[in-house]
Amino acid sequence: MKIIIIGSQGMLGQELARVYQNENPLLWSKSHIDISNKSDVDKKINEVKPDIVFNAAAYNDVDAAEKNKDIAYAINAEGPGHLARAVCAAEGILVHYSTDYIFNGDEKRGYSEEDDPEPRSVYGKSKLLGEKNVIKYSDKYYIIRLSRLFGKSGIGGSAKTSFVDLMLGLAEKNEVIDAVDEELSNPTYAPDLAEQSREIVEGKFPFGIYHVSNRGACTWYEFTKEIFDIKGISVKLNAVAGSYFPRPAPRPKYSILLNTKLNPMRPWQAALKEYLLSK
Ligand SMILES: NC(=O)c1ccc[n+]([C@@H]2O[C@H](COP(=O)([O-])OP(=O)(O)OC[C@H]3O[C@@H](n4cnc5c(N)ncnc54)[C@H](OP(=O)(O)O)[C@@H]3O)[C@@H](O)[C@H]2O)c1
Repeated sequence: MKIIIIGSQGMLGQELARVYQNENPLLWSKSHIDISNKSDVDKKINEVKPDIVFNAAAYNDVDAAEKNKDIAYAINAEGPGHLARAVCAAEGILVHYSTDYIFNGDEKRGYSEEDDPEPRSVYGKSKLLGEKNVIKYSDKYYIIRLSRLFGKSGIGGSAKTSFVDLMLGLAEKNEVIDAVDEELSNPTYAPDLAEQSREIVEGKFPFGIYHVSNRGACTWYEFTKEIFDIKGISVKLNAVAGSYFPRPAPRPKYSILLNTKLNPMRPWQAALKEYLLSK
């Protein structure tokens, strides 16, 4: 079984690499393949003729995407299309990751796999086109949508400090912290997502779109409060409106991912506790 993990130095990619470590997957970072370059993708995929390709590579800077539209589309929209064509030609399976930001965020109950997307940010629009390209060009694909990923930060050039680590860092330097008490969605623990991805593929689930996140939803404030409670941190935490931190890209107000196809994963609080105790 030939497996390639693309974006292997990212937050999710590292966990996929760990989950598949006994199968000796090829771990490709940006120095091995540029997914936005069609001829590079065709050449590298054709050389290996993989059975399964996990694409965990993306342009994830949601705010910077508003001005770097071309880069966001090249990596998030065209890249998955190049991969889909090449992996399909090799008769392999493509596992691709997408986001809750493809939804408009108006629906308080959340969104199922079948609900119509209507992204409002450049990032969301580019990711939706990526999904469409995967569906258009491959016949064996899984599109796995997730939200609010947390876990060990990536180690690649574009790695960002994860939200959890960011808040822990802020708590070391500040006595008062403001957190947005809006934007309801489900945190997703990267190791849980990687395990669930493997289960979907090995369980030979029908090809298509899946929503995978930890059970339960929260605002950023509620997420932060749980982090500080678990760690016993006693800074003053203020709940503020989203408008308190003006950001270039609009965020969905409600983007709970309803999972209607798989067994639910453990609650996000349990996953968060495991992550914080492992640090
Ligand atoms: N993080 C979240 O909260 C979140 C939420 C919803 C959905 N998602 C989706 O989940 C997936 C995994 O996200 P993540 O947070 O693990 O990502 P990440 O940590 O930002 O890692 C992305 C990886 O992609 C690589 N990459 C960037 N451009 C590339 C290119 N042109 N060719 C090849 N590799 C390239 C980066 O390499 P360098 O570091 O060397 O640039 C990086 O290692 C993505 O599809 C993302 O859109 C993430």
